[in-house]
Amino acid sequence: MESHSISKKIGIKKCLRKLDKNKNNNGERMNLNSLSEIANAMVEKGRGILAADESTPTCKKRFDSINVESNEANRNAYRDMLFTTPGMEKFISGVILFDETLRQSTLANNEKFPDYLTKLGVIPGIKVDKGAHPLPGCEGEKVTEGLDGLNSRLEEYYDLGARFAKWRAVITIGDSAPSGSCLAANAHGLARYAAMCQENGIVPIVEPEILMDGEHTIEESFIVTEEVLHTTFYELYSQNVLLEGMVLKPNMVLSGYACSEQASVDEVAEMTVTVLKRCVPSAVPGIAFLSGGQSDEDATAHLNKMNQILGDNSPWNLTYSYGRALQAPSLKAWEGKQENVKDAQDAFYKRAKLNSLATKGEYSPEME
Ligand code: 13P
Repeated sequence: MESHSISKKIGIKKCLRKLDKNKNNNGERMNLNSLSEIANAMVEKGRGILAADESTPTCKKRFDSINVESNEANRNAYRDMLFTTPGMEKFISGVILFDETLRQSTLANNEKFPDYLTKLGVIPGIKVDKGAHPLPGCEGEKVTEGLDGLNSRLEEYYDLGARFAKWRAVITIGDSAPSGSCLAANAHGLARYAAMCQENGIVPIVEPEILMDGEHTIEESFIVTEEVLHTTFYELYSQNVLLEGMVLKPNMVLSGYACSEQASVDEVAEMTVTVLKRCVPSAVPGIAFLSGGQSDEDATAHLNKMNQILGDNSPWNLTYSYGRALQAPSLKAWEGKQENVKDAQDAFYKRAKLNSLATKGEYSPEME
């Protein structure tokens, strides 16, 4: 017991201490010398995170929908279009990159994406998990892999400019799912990853995602979300993860896609806020939601309503870390064509701006 509390104290000192690893040139707008400074900057009011870390197979799926070949050059061009959107840094605090993207460069100046983003005041992040794989003994359930070799990958990612990372665990709701073993295995993986990130001066985004697939009601989603978050925070505590130096990326509490009764915006916001208050310690600086397949408008409206409910007394900043809900209109407008870049950037800018307003509870559907 005693050694545990001593290591916790050491953890806090480490968070507040200047990171001596900070040898890369941070942009002038950023003064990110400790885990808590980075975490706070990621969830700063009015800004949120762009999840652009689609793995190569996921990127292929997205490109298939617009009939664009998923090759390295096209993936580079697409990410370039997003990241060079004029003014996007007003609404985007950080970008989650995929390994390939972290090593790619802007088309105009051949500047490495992490360096370009850092200069802009946008924090580069990196997806480090190796995807969700079948969990033996638990039919239909998955566990996220990627802990082997993670430490050395994090060292390299830090040197390449990444200051935060992402690891996504996937939980399904079904007849006998989620099982206790699935929750325990995924929470353990998330906590091991988070502790390793912090050892390397990198802020972990902890992402336990309950999928919207299925017929489950919003009440069932609430119950499972509560259990998943409790299990996750218990593991984070057990593994000495410093809560001040992490960001939680949860699902919202939603009805399953195939549920005959779809909850209203108010219900989603009320139930999500309630479950977060029950489970997330106020030491966590911010919560950045995933969009999980919601429509762009729903993802913005839900975030807006939650911020209206919590107002100025919220224990954490509530923001976005959306993939599809930030990119979908832009991807559609782009179609892989240079002449569409301006329209695609306008579409991305608009979604980012509306979500920024939602972090302050200032969005309304008429703005769409
Ligand atoms: P979506 O917002 O499309 O769910 O993606 C967020 C993400 O990073 C999933 O891991």
